[in-house]
Order: sequence, then structure tokens, then C-alpha cells
Amino acid sequence: MPFGRLSRLSALAVVGCLPSALGFQPGADYGDYKTTNLYNCSGSFHTSNVTVPNSADTLPQIQPLSASGWEHWDFFSHGTFPIILRWSQGDQSMSNTSPSVGKIDVLIQNVNGTNVQSTLAGQLTYKSGDVNEVMIGPNSFKWDSAAQWFNVTLRVDGYTLVLNTFSAMLDSFHPNVGYYNGLLSNVGDPAVYGSVPVPRGHSYGYLATPDHQNISIDALTVLQHTFSQQALPPYINKYSTAVAWGYSKSFYDTHVFYQIEESNGTVHEAAYLGRAIPLPGSSGTFESTSVTYAVTDDTALYQLSVNPVMGMINASLPGCPATNNISYAFNLTTANSLANFTDLGGGVTMYYALNGSTTAPFGGSAVTGSIAGVFQLYQAPAKQSC
Ligand SMILES: *[C@@H]1O[C@H](CO)[C@@H](O)[C@H](O)[C@H]1NC(C)=O
Ligand SMILES: *[C@@H]1O[C@H](CO)[C@@H](O)[C@H](O)[C@H]1NC(C)=O
Ligand SMILES: *[C@@H]1O[C@H](CO)[C@@H](O)[C@H](O)[C@H]1NC(C)=O
Ligand SMILES: *[C@@H]1O[C@H](CO)[C@@H](O)[C@H](O)[C@H]1NC(C)=O
Ligand SMILES: *[C@@H]1O[C@H](CO)[C@@H](O)[C@H](O)[C@H]1NC(C)=O
Ligand SMILES: *[C@@H]1O[C@H](CO)[C@@H](O)[C@H](O)[C@H]1NC(C)=O
Ligand SMILES: *[C@@H]1O[C@H](CO)[C@@H](O)[C@H](O)[C@H]1NC(C)=O
Ligand SMILES: *[C@@H]1O[C@H](CO)[C@@H](O)[C@H](O)[C@H]1NC(C)=O
Ligand SMILES: *[C@@H]1O[C@H](CO)[C@@H](O)[C@H](O)[C@H]1NC(C)=O
Ligand SMILES: *[C@@H]1O[C@H](CO)[C@@H](O)[C@H](O)[C@H]1NC(C)=O
Ligand SMILES: *[C@@H]1O[C@H](CO)[C@@H](O)[C@H](O)[C@H]1NC(C)=O
Repeated sequence: MPFGRLSRLSALAVVGCLPSALGFQPGADYGDYKTTNLYNCSGSFHTSNVTVPNSADTLPQIQPLSASGWEHWDFFSHGTFPIILRWSQGDQSMSNTSPSVGKIDVLIQNVNGTNVQSTLAGQLTYKSGDVNEVMIGPNSFKWDSAAQWFNVTLRVDGYTLVLNTFSAMLDSFHPNVGYYNGLLSNVGDPAVYGSVPVPRGHSYGYLATPDHQNISIDALTVLQHTFSQQALPPYINKYSTAVAWGYSKSFYDTHVFYQIEESNGTVHEAAYLGRAIPLPGSSGTFESTSVTYAVTDDTALYQLSVNPVMGMINASLPGCPATNNISYAFNLTTANSLANFTDLGGGVTMYYALNGSTTAPFGGSAVTGSIAGVFQLYQAPAKQSC
């Protein structure tokens, strides 16, 4: 059983008050109260006015001088190579780890038969302003204040990676458990927050190898940002996230989800569905983009089933008049294991390649397309009895 048991139990807990405030970055959107799901089959909002790109949300929200806490920025890329890059500070399975301890976990799979897998350690620093940047030594990702470009530069084991990602959706996704922006779980104090600053990005760049090859990279990329002032194990058993990208010639759908299982069995699920229509003859430039769903804990709008034994993930979202009442279905298989990153405290994050098919409304009828993506599963270390 690769993933362990995932309960289907879902709950919409009523939150009386927000867990104790973090020192969010000025201008960040976390913790704002929304009264509904962000998008309910909108079908047509080409520029988001609800989940606006908010550059401040991607900045470190855990201060390096805090006594505890952890924070991750995960880039998942699918294209020339599967690429997983995770900048982090602190440790999600050890509350007493100083957030000033930073690292970058790296996997670039099958570069001419070699997996580039490494961990770079050092202090995480950042800059904010017109250009924002998160760095560990010379390795950084930076983005502009309009949150359009997210550019990675990394030097690892003699390789140089440049991965410049254009945020095609010009949107960010904030799950909102209890309707609080960015809240992934409402148990524990403080809570776990997260957002997806880039739900759909198109990356260009190169990988220079130690033997002086210069390989062009073309990929689809998602950036996720997750943090808490406390280690997870006391109140979270596991969480998983996934992204699946559609490859139809006429449209590209992006489906991102979070599923978080708390120790008492409550499961929170949040999902995002956006569409990009490519310019004819092009795969990287889009005539238009739109967000159709951005929902949290709403089983009427989002049905997710993760079958750990079969390695299958099925998800569906209903249609509405905007889609000619045609629904969306995503059927995914966890193909191969890409990597496992182990925390200091014994938690393991596992990454799997996803492939499968989708049925979705387009031009008034249901069409099918193939999809591919990445599944991430974090398994907290076994709990001490208390
Ligand atoms: C789990 O805990 C949360 C928060 O305390 C509560 O809202 C929820 O109802 C609990 N779920 C179960 C299944 O007991
Ligand atoms: C977003 O724009 C749409 C269409 O113009 C409008 O109906 C909706 O009320 C707007 N939402 C917000 C939160 O401003
Ligand atoms: C290495 O892989 C890249 C990308 O797949 C390819 O373009 C290049 O020709 C390969 N180089 C060698 C020496 O096989
Ligand atoms: C990111 O890279 C793109 C493409 O090279 C460039 O246009 C953009 O200015 C860069 N942005 C930042 C913040 O470095
Ligand atoms: C690799 O090629 C790109 C152009 O595709 C160029 O901009 C870059 O400088 C080259 N990098 C190295 C290390 O040669
Ligand atoms: C997904 O759908 C297929 C086809 O209906 C089914 O065989 C499979 O059991 C489903 N998987 C899950 C996890 O529901
Ligand atoms: C896809 O998953 C849905 C459930 O989300 C299921 O009803 C359907 O049969 C599945 N289709 C295939 C081809 O697996
Ligand atoms: C979403 O829209 C459907 C109709 O399209 C409506 O029945 C449902 O109540 C809405 N749900 C929410 C959470 O707004
Ligand atoms: C879609 O469903 C709504 C509500 O059931 C109905 O009023 C409408 O006629 C349907 N539209 C189409 C194109 O079937
Ligand atoms: C990751 O761990 C799982 C479960 O232990 C194992 O099946 C898989 O082969 C590992 N993957 C890699 C790339 O080492
Ligand atoms: C995913 O890829 C595997 C291996 O290439 C293949 O056996 C499987 O049928 C694919 N699954 C789907 C749903 O396309």
C-alpha cells in the first residue's frame, strides 16, 4: 500500500476565530475572510478579480529568526525532464528546528540516463520590492511585483539550471478552509497555510551539464507555497497535493488539488480548475485564460477519490449553464515514483508522476484529452504516544 489509508470523510468546520496570527508579510492576503468559494463554475472570467496575483503572498511568511516554524516553495515541472525543486526553511516534522536552517531538495530526472538528485543546505534569505527573491547562496527564484515571471537559477552537482516560468493564468489559488484565505487546516494553533502562486506556468530555460551540454528546457510548472509556525505531526497525519495538466490542442486545463487529513479523521479538500486557450499553432502563448473553479471543502462541487492500492485518482466537477451543463472528469494513475525527500524529523514527502485522461466541456460538447502531472504525498512520522 504505497500511500496508506485516505479517509473519504470530509467536514466543513465552523471556525469561531482564526488561529493565532502569524506575522504575515505586509500586503499578503492570508487570513482574509471570504464568504463563499472563490469560483463556482464561472466559465468566463478571463482576468481574475477574486484570486488576484499577489506577489507578497509568495514572500517568506515565517521569519528566519522565529523560534520555530517551517516553509516550503515547491516547483513541479513536467516537460523536457520531470523537475522537482523544493526551497525550504525549518522542518515540518520537528518543531524545534530553527527556520534559519534552509535547504533546497532537487530532482531532475533522467538527464541522459542520470538522475540529478541532491540537497543544497544553507541559510535562506530574501529580498522584497519591485523584484522579489528567495535565495540560498547563489541559488534563487525571483519574481516581479506583477507576479508574472518566476525565474529559477540553480547550481547543483556541476549542473546549472535556468527555469524561467511565465504565469499563464495570471492568477493564484488560495484554498480557504473555513473561508479564511490560504488556510489549509483549522486544527492546531497555529494552523497550516498555503497557496499556489503559479497554478499554471510555462517554463523555458536550459540545463548546462558538467560535460558542457546545453539542453533547452520547455515545461509546464506549478509553484506551491506552504508554511506553518508549528511542526505538523500533532494534528496532521498526511497531506497530498497534485497537479494535472491537459494537453488538448484546442485547450489546456489545469487541475490542482490539496487534500489534508487531520489526526481525528477530518479531511479538507481544495481544488482549482483553470483553462488556457492557446493561440493557433502555439503551445506557450495563450489567446485567453480563465478560472472555472476554486473551491474548498464543497463536495457538491468537487468529488475527489484517491485509491491508494490501485494508485488511482479520480476527480470530477459538475457543469453549469456556462459549460452547457457538461461536467469535468479527471482520471489519473500514479505512474512511477520520482523521488522521496526525508525530513530531519522522519517525515517523508513522496513524488509520483501522473498520467491519464480528462473529459471536459469545450465548444458546447464533451471532449477528451490526455493529461499528465505530479502527485505529492507527505507522510508525517509515526506519532509518539501521549
Ligand atoms: C476534528 O477536529 C475538528 C477541529 O477540532 C472538528 O471541527 C471536527 O469535527 C473533528 N472531526 C471529527 C471527525 O471528529
Ligand atoms: C468579478 O467580475 C465579475 C464580472 O465582471 C463580477 O460579476 C463579479 O462581481 C466580480 N467579483 C468581485 C469579487 O469583484
Ligand atoms: C541529452 O538529453 C537531451 C534532452 O533529452 C538531448 O537533447 C541530448 O541530445 C542528449 N545528449 C546526449 C549526449 O545524448
Ligand atoms: C524572468 O525571465 C524572463 C525571460 O527571460 C524575463 O523577461 C523577466 O524579466 C525575468 N524576470 C525576473 C524577475 O527576473
Ligand atoms: C545555454 O544556451 C542558452 C540559449 O539557449 C544561453 O542563453 C545560455 O547562456 C547557455 N548557457 C551556457 C552555460 O552555455
Ligand atoms: C476511477 O475510475 C475507474 C473507472 O471507473 C475505476 O475503475 C476506479 O476504481 C476509480 N478509482 C477511484 C479511486 O475511484
Ligand atoms: C473517471 O472517473 C470517474 C469518477 O470521477 C468515473 O465515473 C469514470 O468512470 C472514470 N472514467 C474512466 C475512463 O476511468
Ligand atoms: C454553485 O452554482 C450552482 C449552480 O450553478 C448552485 O446550485 C450552487 O448552490 C452554487 N454553490 C455555491 C457554493 O455557490
Ligand atoms: C442546464 O441546466 C439548467 C438547470 O438544470 C437548465 O435550466 C438549463 O436548461 C440546462 N442547459 C442546457 C443547455 O441543457
Ligand atoms: C520512494 O518510497 C516508496 C515507498 O517506500 C518506494 O516504493 C519508492 O520506490 C521510493 N522511490 C524512490 C525514487 O526511491
Ligand atoms: C499511464 O501510463 C502508463 C505507463 O505508460 C500506462 O500503462 C497507463 O495506461 C497510463 N494510464 C492512463 C490512464 O493513461
